[in-house]
Amino acid sequence: MDWGLSNRLNRIIRPDTGHVVMLAVDHGYFLGPVTKLEQPGETVDPLLPYADALMLARGVLRNCVPAETDTPMVLRVSGGRSILAGEDLSDEGLATSMDDAVRLNVSAVALSIFVGSRHERQTILNLAKLVDQGERMGIPVLAVTAVGKELEKRDARYLALACRMAAEFGAHFVKTYFCDDFHQVAESCPVPLVIAGGPSMDTELEVFKMARSAIDQGAVGVDMGRNIWQNENPVAMIRAIRGIVHDELSPEDAHELFTDLSA
Ligand code: R5P
Repeated sequence: MDWGLSNRLNRIIRPDTGHVVMLAVDHGYFLGPVTKLEQPGETVDPLLPYADALMLARGVLRNCVPAETDTPMVLRVSGGRSILAGEDLSDEGLATSMDDAVRLNVSAVALSIFVGSRHERQTILNLAKLVDQGERMGIPVLAVTAVGKELEKRDARYLALACRMAAEFGAHFVKTYFCDDFHQVAESCPVPLVIAGGPSMDTELEVFKMARSAIDQGAVGVDMGRNIWQNENPVAMIRAIRGIVHDELSPEDAHELFTDLSA
């Protein structure tokens, strides 16, 4: 790995713990103003000190995040479909150039791949092209194994296939979903894996259990959104997640920390 690329990746995945807590706020790129992310700047501001990296699209970066920040940015560059397109969200292209990624001084770029969808080939070729550009510029590529409504499969067999393909085509790290037997996904993916949080869960303890289990089974961290900023106490939530990811807290200890910080 080239020095620049390695250095950028090391800004995201902390070398001292080997883990990362990424905060995802890119949802508007196809969902518009989702609940609690109507004004991204206000949502992000109190959480930024606790995020090892922020995942977002360029419009929110330019307009809602202060340029004084030291937090590494992971720029979503794929897109093209909205939630109004129905169930087929897979028709994505590369919507933001590598030139703009460099101009924005980001630490990585991210795109979604839709393995098994109608646009599987197109999104895999998007990945291959972005990896070529990333290698040229020294910018790591995060492949997100997206699962639309048409692809209900979130089992280890499907996710292992999608993550392995992402790595085979050159992704430097991969974002996927947690599932039963997650270790099978992690063991067959030769690059670091982070998990998305998914829709807000009923209890905080469920979120902490998922994060703990993902780390124990081989994830290097989380790239979490709704389960943090849709919580009534988002700062307590991200700090408790940090406790799990970086300090080896159990779900129960993380919950105690969350309760203390929420008081
Ligand atoms: C999905 O592709 C988006 O990139 C989100 O960043 C991702 O789903 C993570 O957010 P959440 O934890 O809310 O699922």
